[in-house]
Amino acid sequence: MSEKMQAAVVKELGSPLVVETRDVPTPGPFDALVRVEYTGVCHTDLHAAHGDWPVKPAPPFVPGHEGAGTVVAVGDQVTRVAVGDRVGNAWLASACGECEYCETGWETLCPRQQNSGYSVDGSFAQYMLVDSRYCPVIPDGVDLAAVAPILCAGVTVYKGLKMTDTRPGQWVLISGIGGLGHIAVQYAVAMGLRVAAIDVADEKLALARRHGAEVGVNARTSSDPVGELTAATGGVHGALVTAVNAHAFPQAVGALRRGGTVSLVGLPPEAFPLDIFTTVLFGLTVRGSIVGTRKDMEEALDFFARGKVAPTFTMRPMTQINDIFAEMEAGAIDGRIVMELATVPAAG
Ligand SMILES: NC(=O)c1ccc[n+]([C@@H]2O[C@H](COP(=O)([O-])OP(=O)(O)OC[C@H]3O[C@@H](n4cnc5c(N)ncnc54)[C@H](O)[C@@H]3O)[C@@H](O)[C@H]2O)c1
Ligand SMILES: [Zn+2]
Ligand SMILES: [Zn+2]
Repeated sequence: MSEKMQAAVVKELGSPLVVETRDVPTPGPFDALVRVEYTGVCHTDLHAAHGDWPVKPAPPFVPGHEGAGTVVAVGDQVTRVAVGDRVGNAWLASACGECEYCETGWETLCPRQQNSGYSVDGSFAQYMLVDSRYCPVIPDGVDLAAVAPILCAGVTVYKGLKMTDTRPGQWVLISGIGGLGHIAVQYAVAMGLRVAAIDVADEKLALARRHGAEVGVNARTSSDPVGELTAATGGVHGALVTAVNAHAFPQAVGALRRGGTVSLVGLPPEAFPLDIFTTVLFGLTVRGSIVGTRKDMEEALDFFARGKVAPTFTMRPMTQINDIFAEMEAGAIDGRIVMELATVPAAG
């Protein structure tokens, strides 16, 4: 009889997840089997469970792409990790390694990539498979619960900030101070940038200030959020939009100074109007940014290991996943939720 585990499963898009008993998966030639100890909950998991995006995941599937744990078995071709190593999963579960994107340092754009918790099962389970050639390797000595949010939120905002082409001393706007945004504030400060924050809740702006933001604007209560940002900063050199509401996107573009760049990372399933005249005459750059490469991940983890960033998180058992999603949808989470897999009742 195969070994069993507990997993939180999306049975049907838009329905509550079901925590159920599943077989522990068997590693293929390049896979590592990981005993998951902690997993962050990303808003992407919620989009996945709802089927928000044009390319939909196929139920039943296990969400989760911020899982951290210990390797307990490896396939016969595995060389990069060994039993006992601490590894994680990531949105970029694997890529083809052969296409023009993989060959030029843009594996995150690979058309044949697999995505954890979307096209392959993720970390909302006591065990998961990872491709040993792509999985993040957790630095020695770091806390496994605290590092989990770095595996998606951290690497995504670290790369997204690099894509704003800003330099130390310049202003960057972080739009949306949720799981991604509150970590973005910390990377930006560590990079020597000056940070302005915008969100729709005063508690989120207070969190941004605790992490080093100098300016905070409430888009819900301010009569002119763009004007306030411009008055405080003279116009930001770069902006990173992590907000889950399409209204935030033109505001971030509007807050840019001439020559500025906005990196879009938030993924509300909508469009936004872009003013052509301003974009052209002010020489603005608007670009998308999706997670980060293995190298970006190593760098983002290194910032964490050196104590430059420390996610704010609350630990919860996986059995509460549907409550956690409801709180996330209501914008009621401070920083990140990290689920503890050990507290799930033993599989029977
Ligand atoms: N591009 C990528 O690689 C990538 C990676 C991870 C997540 N994401 C996406 O990023 C988004 C954020 O993820 P998260 O886990 O941080 O979500 P989250 O729910 O933790 O945070 C979202 C934040 O947006 C704020 N917000 C809502 N409306 C706003 C508005 N009008 N203006 C400003 N802020 C507003 C909320 O108050 C909240 O603080 C999601 O859409 C997710 O799918 C993208
Ligand atoms: Zn994510
Ligand atoms: Zn490829």
